[in-house]
Amino acid sequence: MADQSLNKSKINLAVLISGGGSNLQALIDACAQPDYPARIAVVLSNKADAYGVERAKIAGIPAHVITHKDYADKTAFESAMLDILAGYDIDLVCLAGFMRILSPHFINAWQGGRLINIHPSLLPLYKGLHTHQRALDDGQKEAGCTIHYVVPEVDSGEIIVQKRVPIIKDDTAETLAQRVLEQEHIAYPQAVERLAKAMLAQ
Ligand code: GRF
Repeated sequence: MADQSLNKSKINLAVLISGGGSNLQALIDACAQPDYPARIAVVLSNKADAYGVERAKIAGIPAHVITHKDYADKTAFESAMLDILAGYDIDLVCLAGFMRILSPHFINAWQGGRLINIHPSLLPLYKGLHTHQRALDDGQKEAGCTIHYVVPEVDSGEIIVQKRVPIIKDDTAETLAQRVLEQEHIAYPQAVERLAKAMLAQ
């Protein structure tokens, strides 16, 4: 468990990924700024071929692959992740395109606002998958992304930061996803900065 009073100048992040890791990269780039109040202590991926693992290695960040298929059940998989995180004095866990639904076993280990997620919609709209296509199908005028605290109900925790983009004529799920992703890369470092400053000020 991390210190209650954080006698340090930066908080330690764990970033959990399953894929390309462009949000991880946005956090790596933010953390490279000297005044940014966080550093990435470790990256976990549940996919061995996730490009985000390469991004971590290039940045000199320890990266662990924990393949959920190697474990008998979700509790065993989550326990393996918790065991690794226990070695890194983690203050805040950031889910960044991590495509496994976490159980209370994992979530409850990070009580006190220490587990956050990025979701590519304007929550509470479009929880779950295929957010961009669903927004287009509904004729929405705008879309966006949300950083939120993680609670056992999927995509439902308190909102920390939200960014909006317009939906424009002839948008496809792909063009809209790209426009939203650009905002994700701004939103995640902003949210982490805000939470880190609050933790360090405690
Ligand atoms: C992002 O759109 C994120 O919101 C969603 O999955 C995507 C991950 O992208 N949950 P990346 O791996 O960070 O590039």
